[in-house]
Amino acid sequence: MLDVVKPALLGGQPVFEPSLPMARPQLPSADALLPDFRRILESGQLTKGEHLAGFETESEAYLGVNSCVGVSSCTSGLMLCLQALKRRLKSGQEHKVAVPSFTFLASITALVWAGFTPVFVEADPATMNIDLEDLEQVLKTEAPCAVLAVHCFGNPVPTDTLQSLCDRFDARLMIDAAHGFGSLYQGEKVGKAGWCQVFSLTPTKMVVAGEGGIIATQDYELAEELRIAREYGNDGSYDTQFSGLNARLSELHSCLARGSLKMLESVVAHRNQVAEDSRRLMEGIPGLRFQSITPQSRTTYKDLTLVVEQEQFGLTRDRLAEALQAEGIPSRKYFSPPCHRHKAFKEFASRELPQTEKLADGCLSIPLLDTPTAQGIAQAFRKIRQFSKQIQAGTS
Ligand SMILES: Cc1ncc(COP(=O)(O)O)c(C=O)c1O
Repeated sequence: MLDVVKPALLGGQPVFEPSLPMARPQLPSADALLPDFRRILESGQLTKGEHLAGFETESEAYLGVNSCVGVSSCTSGLMLCLQALKRRLKSGQEHKVAVPSFTFLASITALVWAGFTPVFVEADPATMNIDLEDLEQVLKTEAPCAVLAVHCFGNPVPTDTLQSLCDRFDARLMIDAAHGFGSLYQGEKVGKAGWCQVFSLTPTKMVVAGEGGIIATQDYELAEELRIAREYGNDGSYDTQFSGLNARLSELHSCLARGSLKMLESVVAHRNQVAEDSRRLMEGIPGLRFQSITPQSRTTYKDLTLVVEQEQFGLTRDRLAEALQAEGIPSRKYFSPPCHRHKAFKEFASRELPQTEKLADGCLSIPLLDTPTAQGIAQAFRKIRQFSKQIQAGTS
């Protein structure tokens, strides 16, 4: 007979059968979207139409920014912003950009594509965002022309402090805001600070287009340039201004994103509620600590991420992930290995990053679905911890 108390990895009953999904995107209903989808298809205007314009205007209003430019992905948005940065480099300025290594690989691929050299900066082990002390060191010694910070899992970076650091060292502040649509820093929506912020609209994000991105900026000139850049570099004259991309956001994608944007506040409120419940339900389990949220801020909880301290929990992060999987609980090791360890980026790994290495070795993102599920997940963690010695040793 199956044992209900034993972890599933040791022959007990899994907590979830069938397994949980890692994420469940909250989307507008098909009924709400179909009339608009039908109109788009019947009109034949599948790109560069009213829905892209509408999504941009509604995003500007939500974020409180001067301009929003819809693009085909956050990656293409970052590439175009970085290309625009390159056109603005002063003579003698270094082609270096300071960026955390603890981020999704797309932050770095965009930099390298645009012809920059990433200078990897440490992550703060608590907030998981760029480490400000280490960044200051990099600004002093490497003189990068820009800083590309990341709202890690939606946890907003302290843009006021970052901006004054950048001002002191004559660097531009740019933000990979892939996870941050709906984050608040000191009560204000993120999006306004820095030169530009680029949001992702893929299914695991808060505003969903399927695939897509949106660039927010206070700089009208940059926004105009980006509209040309996403159109191959053609300003309409058919005399290419510079080599851009086809990085347009289609009408069907924009229409879905408009419906999703209407739900954003309730989606973020729900995620915060479930995350708070999860944290409370897992309180007191030794060897686990959650990402610390920047004070006076709201994260989107794009991911609910914790760090496993092997000594106290009794299991390595990888063994814990296996034990969770056996319980029907998927997890993700974001961002492990950190970017400076990737094959394509090793050549840029010029600095020691011990904090980042430690964080990446211990991090684990777990599903954030609803409170009853959070109760089951907490129960699984407790029984795994109770049997950690046997699990680590691989005996039952
Ligand atoms: C931090 C970060 N930056 C950039 C991206 C790329 O976004 P997209 O898939 O929209 O290009 C992602 C994707 O998840 C991300 O997590």
